[in-house]
Amino acid sequence: MRDFKTFTIKNVCKSFGPKQALNNFNLTLEKGQFITFLGPSGCGKSTALNCIAGLIPITSGAMFIDDECIDDGVHSVPPEKREFGMVFQNYALFPHLTVFNNIAFGLELKKLDKQVIRERVKSVLKMVHLEGYEEKFPNQMSGGEQQRVAIARCIVMEPRLLMLDEPLSNLDAKLRIDMRYEIKSIHNRLQISSIYVTHDQQEALALSDRIVVMKSGHIQQVGTPEEVYSQPANLFVADFMGFRNIWPAEIETITEGGAELEVRLNVQGVKLASRLGPEAAQAKRAGLMAAFQKRQPVYTAIRPEDIALGENGPNQQECQVDVVEYLGQTSQVAASFTNGVRIDLRPEARVDQGETIRLTIAPEKIQVFTKEG
Ligand SMILES: Nc1ncnc2c1ncn2[C@@H]1O[C@H](COP(=O)(O)OP(=O)(O)O)[C@@H](O)[C@H]1O
Ligand SMILES: [Mg+2]
Repeated sequence: MRDFKTFTIKNVCKSFGPKQALNNFNLTLEKGQFITFLGPSGCGKSTALNCIAGLIPITSGAMFIDDECIDDGVHSVPPEKREFGMVFQNYALFPHLTVFNNIAFGLELKKLDKQVIRERVKSVLKMVHLEGYEEKFPNQMSGGEQQRVAIARCIVMEPRLLMLDEPLSNLDAKLRIDMRYEIKSIHNRLQISSIYVTHDQQEALALSDRIVVMKSGHIQQVGTPEEVYSQPANLFVADFMGFRNIWPAEIETITEGGAELEVRLNVQGVKLASRLGPEAAQAKRAGLMAAFQKRQPVYTAIRPEDIALGENGPNQQECQVDVVEYLGQTSQVAASFTNGVRIDLRPEARVDQGETIRLTIAPEKIQVFTKEG
């Protein structure tokens, strides 16, 4: 198999008529990495995969394996010559073929020796924990088992790049988590360079070396799970990564405290102090300080689980509990400040509807974004 060190996507655009589905897409994947495209339905994830696979032509830009251009919109290496593999959401198994024949199909096209084929099929079936399933037909198997066959059929070809397009979204919640673990352990064992597509932030966080967050054909942020989770680049990424309490606010003051930035905010009369740590401060300083004028409108973003109950601590506020959803370990609580602004929190202690509570928010847990991010 022809191996590679890096796969590079440079300024790739893809339009369907007037619709721009991918806009200046740039990415470098190092061999063995697991990269996830994360974003809501319609943001261009499948389009990106199909362009990489060579299944649809790109409008402009180029893609490279090491120094070799495989596609520049004019000259395009055909899909089968790219030696990439794709696993689809709907499995796309051949219904009239047994599991063995589904998996052996591509190897037979390559005219490999029958004994070699038998051994390779056996070995991938073991890898996806489906030993002994050779003679079953797809309709005799559960969704999770069929998805495993689809993955086995793909990895048996030893692709240079494995692409998975929302492979778990047809499975129920528990099976999704089991299969997620399965995919991770297959990747750990084989170290196949992989691109995984999902709209589920948990899946992206659990599986990836790097996450590419997308919105309307534009990349919003590329980073490790930790970076995207704790330092979202903008309001969209923050919202997608589970931040809530996105309130319009005004900056009252910004002061530099060493490497950090102290930002005093006025949220429709409620005063909050935010502190941006060194990395965030550095990233923000340019944008936020440059954009900063007196009464600069911004937005807050605070994770519900970062809001604590208590009489002591910074950013003391009083609020009224509106709705309580019991979740076991915690509760999802919607409350409102005295000015009517709604606040979402997840206290571990019990609170009741109608109750007045006091809460406190650590300044470093309050993210600040301009509207444009
Ligand atoms: N063949 C096509 N013709 C026209 N528009 C398309 C086609 N494929 C995708 N699109 C549009 O491109 C955008 C991105 O689609 P897609 O890549 O399927 O999104 P995702 O996989 O993130 O849900 C959507 O607005 C979709 O309607
Ligand atoms: Mg899709």
